[in-house]
Amino acid sequence: MTQRKGIILAGGSGSRLWPITMGVSKQLLPIYDKPMIYYPLSVLMLGGIREIAVITTPNDQSQFQRLLGDGSQWGLSLNYIEQPSPDGLAQAYLLAEDFLAGAPSAMILGDNIFFGHGLAELLAGAARQESGGTVFGYRVADPERYGVVEFGGRGEVLSIVEKPEKPRSNFAVTGLYFFDERAPQLARHVKPSKRGELEIIDLLESYRAQGTLEVELMGRGFAWLDTGTCASLLDAGNFVRTLTERQGLQIGSPDEIAYHKGWISEADLVARANIFGKSDYGRYLSTLLG
Ligand code: TTP
Repeated sequence: MTQRKGIILAGGSGSRLWPITMGVSKQLLPIYDKPMIYYPLSVLMLGGIREIAVITTPNDQSQFQRLLGDGSQWGLSLNYIEQPSPDGLAQAYLLAEDFLAGAPSAMILGDNIFFGHGLAELLAGAARQESGGTVFGYRVADPERYGVVEFGGRGEVLSIVEKPEKPRSNFAVTGLYFFDERAPQLARHVKPSKRGELEIIDLLESYRAQGTLEVELMGRGFAWLDTGTCASLLDAGNFVRTLTERQGLQIGSPDEIAYHKGWISEADLVARANIFGKSDYGRYLSTLLG
């Protein structure tokens, strides 16, 4: 199988956070001690993905480049793609078609935060699927706000409905999508919805109709946090702060993951720790050297 490539979708208008996001991209805002995009980037890295495209608005691209560079500091290759206007999540596969060049993909929304024991194994399982698509179902109290999965008696996926008035289950589809190499080709058949967007739900439906869509459940031991509103942004920051201070362990550190995976050397990590020197993040990286 060609090496799976990653996509971080970090465009959008962030209108629910206006006026904050009128001057800066949502995915650059802090989640406690790190920029938001560090968290989805770390998820892809945990899944073993090293070649990644970051999709941003044309205006914000240079700031993401300033923050993340070419990825070599983490043993990654980062590419940047512009999305001229926020025309929907499925458009990412059209924009990234040349980058993917026939490879399977894992796409994560730049404002989604995942945390939980066993996340790496869950990702590895999805990454091993050679054909079809895998998404993750997460139990939420308010499914009517999300894309909701309906399961049949044998656990098969009967439907996925966007923001249903009467949800058929409590399982929402999270913002993490593993697809085989056909995603760009299938995305080309997606027509704009009533709100004028190329909906990811329609791409999921193409895979489901062919019987090639897996929905893996993320159990109650996982946290899937959204950061799209002022309250959820603050809650996510507090969640990260609580765990980080309690355990003395970082959540969403690309430097730590790169080091543990052997993608950067001890000397590289020392250099990184020196760059961040005075901050808690820099001090934390120094402690990893043992
Ligand atoms: P949303 O939260 O649906 O949209 P948004 O970020 O523009 O925010 P708002 O609803 O407040 O206006 O987007 C989910 C994620 O996907 C987020 O990280 C932004 C990203 N996104 C894109 O990059 N391009 C798009 O066309 C859309 C719709 C979203």
